[in-house]
Amino acid sequence: MTETAASLQEKWHQLEKSCQQCQRCSLARSRTQVVFGSGCLQSRIMFVGEAPGFNEDRKGIPFCGQAGAILDQLLSSINLDRSQVYITNVIKCRPPGNRDPEPEELAACQVYLYQQLELLKPEVIACLGRFSLRTILEYFGLPASVSISRVHGQVFSPEGDLFRQGKIVALYHPAVATYQPAALATLKKDFAVLSELLL
Ligand code: URA
Repeated sequence: MTETAASLQEKWHQLEKSCQQCQRCSLARSRTQVVFGSGCLQSRIMFVGEAPGFNEDRKGIPFCGQAGAILDQLLSSINLDRSQVYITNVIKCRPPGNRDPEPEELAACQVYLYQQLELLKPEVIACLGRFSLRTILEYFGLPASVSISRVHGQVFSPEGDLFRQGKIVALYHPAVATYQPAALATLKKDFAVLSELLL
């Protein structure tokens, strides 16, 4: 392992440890465990979902339920698997009953996602759903009040030198395909856009 990779791993470990002990919002009282993220720290791409659900809260792994099975299918459609990407969420603890995250929860938790981005510096940030997209656009100082149904499949390019000219891709949340099967075709099309960015 190179020195840089070792120091990244150490910083990552410290961040994960502080996140695991987080008490910044009331979700700390209802969670089974923090779901920090999983995958390859050297990946060029980071997927950012919304928040852990029932299965993720139990297992501590992001996207390990029904939405995760769809995400796996979508990754496979562009010849990728989980070992080649990093996957996390905007919110690291499960909102009770899988409700939408509250503004104060989003505000309290964003520090972890932003530090994950600073450490990993992904070339492509794949935003799964509106909460993710808005949080990431805000981070880069881009107008964030966008509608995912209007912008899915679009690539946003933050100005300046941030993240080796990184790109942001807007995607529907994979869970949409569980109650709206036609959305799977749209998701596959948008994943193909994402795949082009990795060429
Ligand atoms: N939905 C998300 O946004 N994230 C998960 O980890 C699981 C379901």
